[in-house]
Amino acid sequence: MSLRRLSPDQPASFAFKPEHGPRIKREVAKYPPGRQASAVIALLRLGQEQEGWVSKPMIEEIGRILSMPYIRVLEVATFYTMFNLEPVGEHLVQVCTTTPCWLRGSDDVVAACKKHIAPKPHTVSADGKFSWMEVECLGACVNAPMLQIGKDFYEDLDGPKTEALLEAFRRGETPKPGAGNGRHTSEPEGGALTLKDPKLYDGGYSRKTNGGGDEGATDAEAKRPTQGASDRDAPVQKPPGAAT
Ligand code: FES
Repeated sequence: MSLRRLSPDQPASFAFKPEHGPRIKREVAKYPPGRQASAVIALLRLGQEQEGWVSKPMIEEIGRILSMPYIRVLEVATFYTMFNLEPVGEHLVQVCTTTPCWLRGSDDVVAACKKHIAPKPHTVSADGKFSWMEVECLGACVNAPMLQIGKDFYEDLDGPKTEALLEAFRRGETPKPGAGNGRHTSEPEGGALTLKDPKLYDGGYSRKTNGGGDEGATDAEAKRPTQGASDRDAPVQKPPGAAT
C-alpha cells in the first residue's frame, strides 16, 4: 500500500466548469434520494478530467455538492490510486512495471521516461508536457512492455521506441496507439499461426463431418434464434378445477 497524501502545493479554489453541470446532475440522479454520496467517485473522476489531478479545494467542493463531510471525500480520493494527488504534466505517462512487463523490459521504458521527462516519478517535466509514474498491471500483458498516455495504450515497447514516442508527443503529434511491432492487436508477430482455416467458422467442417445427404447447419442456420427454453418447457395452463 502506498502512502498517499495531498500535495503541499494547492490552488486557492476550485469550481467545475459550467458545461459539467448536466453531467454532475446525471451522476447524482443515478442514486436514490439521500444516497447522493454514491456519486463521489464519478465526481472525483470528472474533477480530475478537468484539472488533471485532485486538489483540496476540489475535494471540499465535491463534499459540498454531495452533502458529505470533507474527510469522507478525502478518504476516497486517497484510497484509490487512479486519483492523482499532485499536479501532472499535459501528458500523464503511466508505465506498467508488473512482472510480465518487467520480464519483457519495462526497466528500459522507465529509463526512457527518466531521461526524457524527469529523473523521479510524479515530477512534471521542465516544459510542463509530461509527468510519469509506475503502475501495476494494466491488463495488456500479452503486448508487454507497455505504458498508458491519457486513455491510450502503447505496447510492445523498448527503450528507443519509448524515447521516440515521447519525442513525438513533445512535438505535438499523437502517435497511433496499440501494438508497437506491426502485429494486429495481440496476435502473434507475423500473424496467426493456429485456427486459420476459414471452414472452422463458416460451417464447412460441420457439413463435411455430417456427410451424405445431411449437409449440417449453415452458419446462418446455426445462428437463427430458436424457441426459448422457457416457452418449450412451460406447463400447459389449465382452468381452475380441471382434472389433472
Ligand atoms: S503486467 Fe504490464 S500490462 Fe500486465
